[in-house]
Amino acid sequence: MADETKGIYYVEGTLPETPLPGKEPPPWKATSVVGKPLPRVDAYERVSGAAVYPSDVRLPNMLHGAILRCPHPHARVRRVDTSAALKVPGVRVVVSGATPEADLVFKKDPVGDIRLFDSMCRYEGDAVAAVAAETPYQAWDAVNAIRVDYEVLPFVADERRALQPGAAPVHPKGNLSKKDGYERGDVARGFAAADVVLEATYRTECELHTPLEPHGCVASWDGGSLTLWESSQGVYAVQSRVAEVLKLPLARVRVIGHYMGGGFGSKLEPGKYTIIAAVMAKLSGRPVRLFLTREETYLSVGNRPPTNMTVKAGVTRDGTLTALEFTVLGTGGAYTAGGTSLVDWLARDLYTCPNVRTSGTDVFINAGPARAFRAPGHPQGAWALEQMMDALAEAIGMDPVQLRLRNIPSFSQAREGNPEYTSTAFRECLEQGATAFGWEQARRDARAQNMQGHLRRGVGVAGGLWFAGGGRPPATVIVKLFPDGSANLNMGASDLGTGTKTVMAMVVAEELGITPEAVQVENADTGTTQYAYPSGGSKTVPTEAPATRNAAVQVKQKLLAMAAEALNVDLAELDYRGREIVSRRDPATRIAVQELDALKRQGGVVGIGYRGPNPKNKTVNPFAAHFCEVEVNTRTGELKILRFLAAQDSGRVMNRLTYDSQVIGGIAMGIGLATTEMRVLDAGQTGKMVNRNWHDYKLPTALDVPAELTCLPIEPVDTEANNTGAKGLGEPATIPTAAAVANAVYHATGLRITDTPIHPLQLAQRLADRPKEG
Ligand code: MOS
Repeated sequence: MADETKGIYYVEGTLPETPLPGKEPPPWKATSVVGKPLPRVDAYERVSGAAVYPSDVRLPNMLHGAILRCPHPHARVRRVDTSAALKVPGVRVVVSGATPEADLVFKKDPVGDIRLFDSMCRYEGDAVAAVAAETPYQAWDAVNAIRVDYEVLPFVADERRALQPGAAPVHPKGNLSKKDGYERGDVARGFAAADVVLEATYRTECELHTPLEPHGCVASWDGGSLTLWESSQGVYAVQSRVAEVLKLPLARVRVIGHYMGGGFGSKLEPGKYTIIAAVMAKLSGRPVRLFLTREETYLSVGNRPPTNMTVKAGVTRDGTLTALEFTVLGTGGAYTAGGTSLVDWLARDLYTCPNVRTSGTDVFINAGPARAFRAPGHPQGAWALEQMMDALAEAIGMDPVQLRLRNIPSFSQAREGNPEYTSTAFRECLEQGATAFGWEQARRDARAQNMQGHLRRGVGVAGGLWFAGGGRPPATVIVKLFPDGSANLNMGASDLGTGTKTVMAMVVAEELGITPEAVQVENADTGTTQYAYPSGGSKTVPTEAPATRNAAVQVKQKLLAMAAEALNVDLAELDYRGREIVSRRDPATRIAVQELDALKRQGGVVGIGYRGPNPKNKTVNPFAAHFCEVEVNTRTGELKILRFLAAQDSGRVMNRLTYDSQVIGGIAMGIGLATTEMRVLDAGQTGKMVNRNWHDYKLPTALDVPAELTCLPIEPVDTEANNTGAKGLGEPATIPTAAAVANAVYHATGLRITDTPIHPLQLAQRLADRPKEG
């Protein structure tokens, strides 16, 4: 407990050993703070509304921006007439294809530079013009007053038609974006050696990120220096792109995003809106606030693109996989955006299989560009592969958990040199998950119940791994300890709402023997905090936490050096105990940290921590197995997800509360993919998105997500990945989810639902179509 008489913030307890300077700290053994279920350090600010998100920023004299967007999926802008817009009261700036800013290169793409206002609009919602005015209403009135002469062009809005003869070309060179593939072994021989070969096709619909806080920023100039408050996953990523586009030195672009209301991959980079706001602020000499409406975010700032997958798989009677062939057709939308990236990764690497061939065809369509979306490619790949595993198990009469256990690799087959995993507990995820879920009993009970009535129970499992994770250098973190035992932590990384700040405060607390509340976190500001990658890829904790630990360790090392001088003893014999520094040789030789003259003189001690390299010739990957029980009403097609268990191998649990939150969020999102979410484009008539709002785009709600959600962290801790042992959690928590639901639905009904979403209409139709049971 904190002792208010002797230094407010120190806690009693055993602290991690302090390595000598220059040495990476060894893995923690026992921990006193790390791993505990602690509420977020900024919980009060977040729930009370005190936290200032970028969309809350209001500056004196600020203008409000709005963007005119192309209403057609494919059109050439012949002429923009802004004369009426300029006459709307309150309008201060109008920019468009007719003003010089139009030619700013927003992004380089293999198909050609993407300009800020391109005369060729290749998706509904691309920016055509923008306005800044005294009020948001005036800005929108002015947007509506802009007259545009469009040459409306033929479009293609369905990736399955993009390569067909006669399909409208999205780009002059046609609609093929990229073809790629992977091969090992000999699949033909593998299929010949199989006892059972199955082939099936699967489809996942396009999902939209839908963060609570929409995309946008507030831009303000002070002479030649730009400050942006942007809702972002990475302030440094925004800074570098904005500096590049506007040809400014990095030091002249400050990006701040202390809080942000969700991104899921869609805020890893700035948008056209960022540049537009900066430009209009410059032209007007006034700060400009430009946040998108929900409708605009649905059209223009990214999605998890749709996939069409075919899986062919061979297995022997004893459950050995002999061959896998995986084909995917996908789209990144109108520009190069990795429409098929990583969709095949699980087919390549989740299970032991000597013969694997995958191929991807990525095409352009006239729709908003894709962006990374929580575990890009993986939930889609799992949807196909993990349903195929379920079907194979049934075909050879083997339990689905057992079939997976038969094929668990200890190294990465798809990576160059076949590196071992620093740790893999995929086996334990399946075994311990099955036990905790009551898998076998639940499967039997469901069977018994399904002998009668129209409410059918089913139980399903699916596995997954996350291709990335594990973190990487560089990361720089500064920890400053004040003489009273409170500390300041300085890092550039954004906290996406996942608890990053809290986890880092806990790491500092663990090392310094202080309470996490004593750690003030400064983050996500390129002007005042240290370089960090965007928060994403499930890399934030495994990247930033080791650097944070190193910074705190350096603080201890400096204090030990001060104590060694004060006590006139050898540094190596001293032990940092938080409040005190004590000689291990002679416990009477000790000094309170607050009594250190050098500390008093300096006013504080600063440690700088860097992220060290990952282990050579190894790969760091998180794993997961999800278990799901459902009930299907065979009269109505309604699907109820009754309970869910997620066994996650993400290495060390840094904070049990935020860990559970990540997993629960991952499950909820996976349930969305499985059952409710779908961007609907009117591919036949208009090419427009018809469900661009929260009413028609169905996110899962509390009614769709079961109350019984169990998070089962699988340890032991990874001692090789990095000095904290954490491997990354956010994305693996949503990879197997949708497939587990589909497998449970199959178990309940005998219907293999190959296309997302499994909504009541689809289920009712499928149930009605199948021959009447006796
Ligand atoms: Mo993530 S899709 O790397 O934010």
